[in-house]
Amino acid sequence: CGIVGYIGMNDTTETLLRGLEKLEYRGYDSAGIARLNREGVHVTKVKGRIAALREEIEKQNITATMGIGHTRWATHGAPNHSNSHPHQSASGRFTIVHNGVIENYEDIQRDYLADVEMASDTDTEVIVQLVEKLYETLQDVKAAFRKAISLLKGSYAVAIMDEKNPDTIYVAKNKSPLLVGLGEGFNVVSSDSMAMLQVTDQFVELEDKEIVLVRRQEVEIQKLDGTKVERDAFTAEIDATDIEKGTYPHFMLKEIDEQPFVIRKIIQEYQDEHDQIKLDPNVRQAMLNCDRVYIIACGTSYHAGLVGKQFMEKLANIPVEVHVASEFSYNMPLISEKPLFIYISQSGETADSRSVLVQTNAKDYPSLTITNAPGSTLSREADYTLHLHAGPEIAVASTKAYTAQLAVLVILAVDTAQAKGIELNFNPMQELAIVANAMEALCDQKEEMEKIAAEYLTVARNCFFIGRSADFFVGLEGALKLKEISYIQAEGFAGGELKHGTIALIEEGTPVIALATQANVNYSIRGNVKEVAARGAYPCIISMRGLDQEGDTFVLPEVHELLTPLVSVIPLQLIAYYAALHRDCDVDKPRNLAKSVTVE
Ligand code: G6P
Repeated sequence: CGIVGYIGMNDTTETLLRGLEKLEYRGYDSAGIARLNREGVHVTKVKGRIAALREEIEKQNITATMGIGHTRWATHGAPNHSNSHPHQSASGRFTIVHNGVIENYEDIQRDYLADVEMASDTDTEVIVQLVEKLYETLQDVKAAFRKAISLLKGSYAVAIMDEKNPDTIYVAKNKSPLLVGLGEGFNVVSSDSMAMLQVTDQFVELEDKEIVLVRRQEVEIQKLDGTKVERDAFTAEIDATDIEKGTYPHFMLKEIDEQPFVIRKIIQEYQDEHDQIKLDPNVRQAMLNCDRVYIIACGTSYHAGLVGKQFMEKLANIPVEVHVASEFSYNMPLISEKPLFIYISQSGETADSRSVLVQTNAKDYPSLTITNAPGSTLSREADYTLHLHAGPEIAVASTKAYTAQLAVLVILAVDTAQAKGIELNFNPMQELAIVANAMEALCDQKEEMEKIAAEYLTVARNCFFIGRSADFFVGLEGALKLKEISYIQAEGFAGGELKHGTIALIEEGTPVIALATQANVNYSIRGNVKEVAARGAYPCIISMRGLDQEGDTFVLPEVHELLTPLVSVIPLQLIAYYAALHRDCDVDKPRNLAKSVTVE
């Protein structure tokens, strides 16, 4: 979910709507805004996208100089109208938007709100009802807000308006990200800076359990005990004009096509004038100091981590563990004496990853975030950051961030190897330049991918991806892309594991996409293809030039064997894209997903 708020001299409507449009990557199950003017509070909410909310709002003729808004990824309660934000207290006096999950909402309901009739099934409504309830006894809104916040357990970024006090938005956060944006005669709040770059680039970070009173002319930050906090603003850097899709029908296709340019940009950014790797010396030192790297990530970024492990182990001789953040968080393995934690996150906002970072920070373990959003929470809270330079990624299914993550990981691995004095016969910038050219050639062969998608996936119920070594990891990513946007049940398997179970799923005509880009397993993966074909599967073999054989479905241009994932993933992204198109799916905003999941 994402939240926004505005308080100023001008009408708030457009600022809120535009802000929510930029936050739609955090969820799009429902959306709503509340505006406060002389007549009182006006709440408008709809199930579905911001576009539907905008349509609804445009039918109204309401102006107001303060308001709050929300775009929802449903956690508690179905994504219907009554569960949509903003929520209101029983009397209608207080109105709230919230991002996060209140873990003890049932306790609060039982202990404080037994006599209050709830209008929704959400944990959020409990907060606003609690504020009203506490106000009845305390007779002071600030005190009631503070007390309510002190009772909450879990994650939250909240903004509350009080109908009787049109000068303040009450704001607080814990675990969920929230920024205050500063303007001339107005101030805003927002889950990230991108959403409010339209009105300001000056932002103040908030820390957990702080309370903020946002007014037109001032912003007052306090700790829960009432002590005032002074904090300087920072300047946000992302270019808001990058976020347009131009002539492309979908962001995903645009972002797939951008990959060669992103790789070239990374080469540029990470190379000095003597063609040497240019990297923050502190990051280099952190790599040298550690005895083991722990990569923490989710989704596509986790898949990039699996490939990154190979880079670091094979090139820099550092042992690496790769963990899914949500598992690591609650089941931490034994940690080596000198760990380095690397967080890979396109958005830098993923709550599961952040929850691990909070834990490793508490233990003073060094940390590096590799992200596309340098101002993001994971970037701010880790010791060091490496920037992906991929430009905003808007489509929910991640494409260019994945290949950018791989490129930065290989540069990091080579840099560490060089710092350790390991002789390598591998120039990462030259090899990445070859990759960029290969990517470009692949992006020019879209019709072939469209044909494969039509032939294999138009009526498929499921689809398997097999590969060995690096191809296995890319297969996992290919399967994720396909299931995310086409809803075809897709799984990636290690070629050798097939016979230990998965092969039972093969039926007449089951599509099996096999990757063959690794010389040492070329023979064995082809053996696996024969095994499934013998049982009726319909195999599609994507091989690398030099390893190709007669009958292969598609042959990739040759790149260095370590870097094949950057290239072999492109046909899989395109096949997923066209499969989704053929099936009439919403490519950029698939059902049930969010670009960045900001709740644990
Ligand atoms: C969500 C997205 C995925 C993404 C994952 C991790 O689930 O739908 O596409 O890979 O989050 O996101 P991050 O921003 O941390 O890389």
